[in-house]
Amino acid sequence: MLDPKAIAAMLKKETPLRPALGMVLGSGFQNALDELDAAREITYSQIPGFPTVGVTGHAGKLVVGTFDSAPVIVLKGRVHYYEGYEMDRLTFPVRVLAELGVRTILLTNAAGAVNTSYRTGDFMAVEDHINFMGANPLRGPAYPGLPRFVDLTRVYDRRLIDLARKAAKASRLRLRKGVYLAVSGPNYETPAEIRAFRRLGADAVGMSTVPEAIVARQCGLAVAAVCCITNKAGGDEKTGVLSHSDVVATGESKRNEMAWFLKTFAVLHAHARR
Ligand code: HPA
Repeated sequence: MLDPKAIAAMLKKETPLRPALGMVLGSGFQNALDELDAAREITYSQIPGFPTVGVTGHAGKLVVGTFDSAPVIVLKGRVHYYEGYEMDRLTFPVRVLAELGVRTILLTNAAGAVNTSYRTGDFMAVEDHINFMGANPLRGPAYPGLPRFVDLTRVYDRRLIDLARKAAKASRLRLRKGVYLAVSGPNYETPAEIRAFRRLGADAVGMSTVPEAIVARQCGLAVAAVCCITNKAGGDEKTGVLSHSDVVATGESKRNEMAWFLKTFAVLHAHARR
């Protein structure tokens, strides 16, 4: 694995902006950057160590810019474990953001509702997670200077959940709070799996975010994660067959609210740091 410090040093030459806030835009959120004033965009293929092919087939981009005057660095597009990447490769960009000076990271994703009271189009602030991916991004050689055994008692920062609540209110999004269960995918779940996940205490299910959250905690970042509930999780025969295009379409229908949410979150975060 490359040294994230070396890649960060290279990227620092590209822009004088040093955002304390990083964002990872997952499926559905990709087109929610309308409110961002982008100063510099670099495609992942130009950055050594960054994984290149995403689920939509579009190249991912690292974007540095400002929401109003709040600086932010955005990973637009992520790759997933189910695409075949190793966990350390998948989470390398998070390590680079930490070396670039990011202190807070907002992870976004599309997820299926396990909790029966959730509706398509709701948002959920992640309060805790269950790693059901069968893999761990911290496996492998230790990173010098970082903890080997990472405490996960409180992965998702309470103050950031409160910021997300305020930003959702301003953006007219209904925000739930709950437990995100991560699977490796890429298949959607069976009815028996969803019943089991409900019993385990999950409110939403998805195929991302947890590896990044774990690595971000190892790097000492404050973490927030927000899901767009794009569908009822598999197994509801009344809802019919799930398709990736429906998942993306739900995300797209919330685009304006999401764009406003991301901006408000960034502005509130910048104020809270002053
Ligand atoms: N299951 C797993 N991942 C998902 C889902 C789902 O129902 N919806 C969006 N991502």
